[in-house]
Amino acid sequence: GGATAVARAHSNIALVKYWGKRDAALNTPAVGSISVTLDALYTDTRVTFTPGLAADEFWLAGCRGPVTRVSHVLDLVRGHAASLGLPASGLNAIVSSTNNFPTGAGLASSASGFAALAVAATGAAGLTLLSRELSILARYGSGSAARSIFGGFAEMHAGTAADGSDAYAEELLDQGAWPLAVVVAITEHGEKSINSTIGMNESKATSPFYPAWLDSADDDLAEMRAAIRDRDFTRLGELSEYNCLKLHALMLTTRPALIYWNAATVAAMHAVRALRAQGVPAYFTIDAGPQVKVLCLPGDAAAVQQAMTLVPGVHEARISALGPAAYRLE
Ligand code: DP6
Repeated sequence: GGATAVARAHSNIALVKYWGKRDAALNTPAVGSISVTLDALYTDTRVTFTPGLAADEFWLAGCRGPVTRVSHVLDLVRGHAASLGLPASGLNAIVSSTNNFPTGAGLASSASGFAALAVAATGAAGLTLLSRELSILARYGSGSAARSIFGGFAEMHAGTAADGSDAYAEELLDQGAWPLAVVVAITEHGEKSINSTIGMNESKATSPFYPAWLDSADDDLAEMRAAIRDRDFTRLGELSEYNCLKLHALMLTTRPALIYWNAATVAAMHAVRALRAQGVPAYFTIDAGPQVKVLCLPGDAAAVQQAMTLVPGVHEARISALGPAAYRLE
């Protein structure tokens, strides 16, 4: 038998978003980002370094999954282990993950998956890493995963170092410091979106808006930090919508165009604005897919969920509170 560890990490949604890479090999982002971690959506991952195993194996909900990025993260863990003379350095691993949300619901998140992998793989190898180092490790799997090491509100730094050592996330506020709710409106089951890595490289190569996206990122990050510090929900929400629509303008002006919205996505955006007109403070944000996430105050979450459910084409709306940092399960 090998050395095993199990970890849980929660998904996150960016309020100021990452799109574009500074360095492809290090998977460092071209811009910083700020997110909230979601309590309702998480991944559990078990890693076992196994003597005699010919190659790493990745199992997702009992089926073989793509192993390339998983092995990349495991190689980094094996490198750390080698420097400390730990036995995991020479062993392949079995990685098995389950999401607490239905696979194919369009909620699958590389963020929770790679954050859970970073915590479980280092645990199984017998390494004790700082959160910052775990965040860097998760980043190699997926940029957004660097933020899911932390709970509450997290900020990812783009960094400037040539080795990527300053491109990590850190916690801005813990889970309980400012309770907010996120209503996730599912407009498409089994979404087939364009891979983020490919999409962001195409935006960088072709969109005339890309330089403006880079130039305005620091202003959005500074304003979002201030809104969070001041617990100013109106400012947070308005800025989240603005930054989301700026990202989608960048996507729409990519060649070929990255159109992630469907009719229900647009209908849900209008429904959120109609809620505001009725005095309910609610704001949307949308990633590289058709689902709409609505930011609101916990006391308004049930009303927002109800309003989203009534939007034509919305299959389901789930309420989430802010979630905790990634952690070991045993
Ligand atoms: C639109 O983290 O999926 O969700 O680093 O290439 O794996 P890779 O990209 P990924 O990109 C996330 C893009 C986004 C915005 C965000 O989460 O910040």
